[in-house]
Amino acid sequence: MAVIAVFNQKGGVGKTTTTLNVAAGLAMLDRQPVILDLDPQAHVSLALGVRGVPSAACMSGFFRSGLPLEGMVRRLGNGIRLIPGHADLSKIDALLGSTPGVASRLRKGLRDTGVFGPSPVLIDCAPALGVLSLNALFAADRVLIPVTSDFLTIQGLNRLDIALQVLEQPLQRRIERRVVLTRYDESRPQCREALANLKQRYGEVLCDTRIPDDPALAESPAHGLDIFVYAGDSPGAHAYRQLTMELLDKGFLA
Ligand SMILES: Nc1ncnc2c1ncn2[C@@H]1O[C@H](COP(=O)(O)OP(=O)(O)O)[C@@H](O)[C@H]1O
Ligand SMILES: [Mg+2]
Repeated sequence: MAVIAVFNQKGGVGKTTTTLNVAAGLAMLDRQPVILDLDPQAHVSLALGVRGVPSAACMSGFFRSGLPLEGMVRRLGNGIRLIPGHADLSKIDALLGSTPGVASRLRKGLRDTGVFGPSPVLIDCAPALGVLSLNALFAADRVLIPVTSDFLTIQGLNRLDIALQVLEQPLQRRIERRVVLTRYDESRPQCREALANLKQRYGEVLCDTRIPDDPALAESPAHGLDIFVYAGDSPGAHAYRQLTMELLDKGFLA
């Protein structure tokens, strides 16, 4: 079981879109991926057509009541297994913020559950570095960081790099990471500049695959579908297929 946190404290950079469609790419290869929805907005659950699940049967039940993860897993038609998110996740910081060892809960919970076998587990993080994202980063073997080309996202990378560096100390290991440029539009100078900047800054850590700006990627969640089912021949589908293969080839998802 490889655990991958899809994280960036900035919102709107493509964390949910990437979690959903890399998981869907893995499902098509029969890798039986698992998604943990750690965002109180529960966007990835909604995008997969899962809504109205009681809090106790969502990730909030795990954090609030210590309920085991295995009882919460939903198997979806496209081969993804999901533990949904819930608005109650927004209370976890206030409830558990100062509890000793709180950041290790998910790591322990995943270690204690045998149900995922060798499947990759992708965690869709909230756009904040609170208790939930700390749990995701502590539980993760690796971190996948979606980044868009806009000024504020690129500026925020310093903070992100420092946060990961700080976390490496208590973890006593390096957090392996990959950065993926999303919403890329070759015709826009800002995107080309961001690409050059990221290449220089991250070298091989930057994925070769870039995710284009594709309206189909923005439309598919409204239909409760991943990009391969919604528009299998779209540029977005090609890019997420390629990203899944690149991450598999580089051993990032195993
Ligand atoms: N490559 C893309 N092309 C077009 N729209 C995208 C793309 N990636 C994400 N979006 C849209 O941008 C918005 C933010 O993406 P999302 O994945 O929810 O980001 P995050 O989870 O980081 O907040 C959503 O409306 C999503 O549908
Ligand atoms: Mg999101």
